[in-house]
Amino acid sequence: MGYNTILTQVDGKVATITLNRPQVLNALNDELMDELGAALLGFDADDNVGCIIITGSEKAFAAGADVAKMAKYSLQEVYRHDYISRNWEQIRKVRKPVIAAVAGYALGGGCELAMMCDMIMAADNAKFGQPEVKLGIIPGAGGTQRLPRAVGKAKAMDLALTGRMMDAQEAESAGLVARIFPAADLLKEVSAIAKNIADMPLLTAMMVKESINAAYETTLSEGIRFERRLFHACFGTNDQKEGMAAFVEKRPAKFTNS
Ligand code: HXC
Repeated sequence: MGYNTILTQVDGKVATITLNRPQVLNALNDELMDELGAALLGFDADDNVGCIIITGSEKAFAAGADVAKMAKYSLQEVYRHDYISRNWEQIRKVRKPVIAAVAGYALGGGCELAMMCDMIMAADNAKFGQPEVKLGIIPGAGGTQRLPRAVGKAKAMDLALTGRMMDAQEAESAGLVARIFPAADLLKEVSAIAKNIADMPLLTAMMVKESINAAYETTLSEGIRFERRLFHACFGTNDQKEGMAAFVEKRPAKFTNS
């Protein structure tokens, strides 16, 4: 599949999507988000893929929505064409695990895209921020909702009201980032983590993702109920039988994703 703004690669069961508009630090426009959505849904449908990585360059994951393009938008246009909602959130339809591998800037829509992924792995040079306020807009791709859920109200307010950047260390201690790696090793390390995840029984990994995501959408008792039903459903899979038999028989499991 030929894309203009992203690169895609599949290595074993791991698919990697690289945002590729280096001249504008991977600023996000409709074309890129359309292509990203198409690639993500394609890999989600591909039985040979078990985990997806989204990454950028060493300098920028994405420096935000394309400001030059956005500067000319009118209220009528953004409302009529449902800017953001129309095509920026395809990633939410993906049921397989998606990891953001973030080096350099993840600002505005770039930070929001990273937060739409299931987890963020950061290079030690990563910088996160929601600087929209300085442009006369508020975060529009989930920043005011996902950031406080990740780092708490105080830090979310601090970041979104001042527009300051947060480095990888601060982001990890605040809970936004799962792990930090030296920039030069980021992709190698994240690919190894993705391979590890892709080798897990796929249906179970999908259920883990679905259940953790439910924690952000519901009450504790409803969330626990949802978890319990999926937990029960695991006992209907061949991979539960195989995983537990392999443990008991002290041999490696051979999962069939069934
Ligand atoms: C369009 C961008 C861009 C962006 C960088 N560029 N960010 N173009 N949209 N978001 C372009 C620059 O204009 C420049 O083009 C080239 O990329 C390199 O950027 P420099 O600024 O020269 O690099 P540097 O000095 O290293 O500074 C890096 C930076 C800065 C700190 C990341 O570029 C910056 O502040 N960018 C904007 C960050 C931002 O405000 N993001 C939020 C956008 S609003 P030329 O042609 O000069 O070489 C947003 C809304 C989200 O995201 C809501 C909906 C998704």
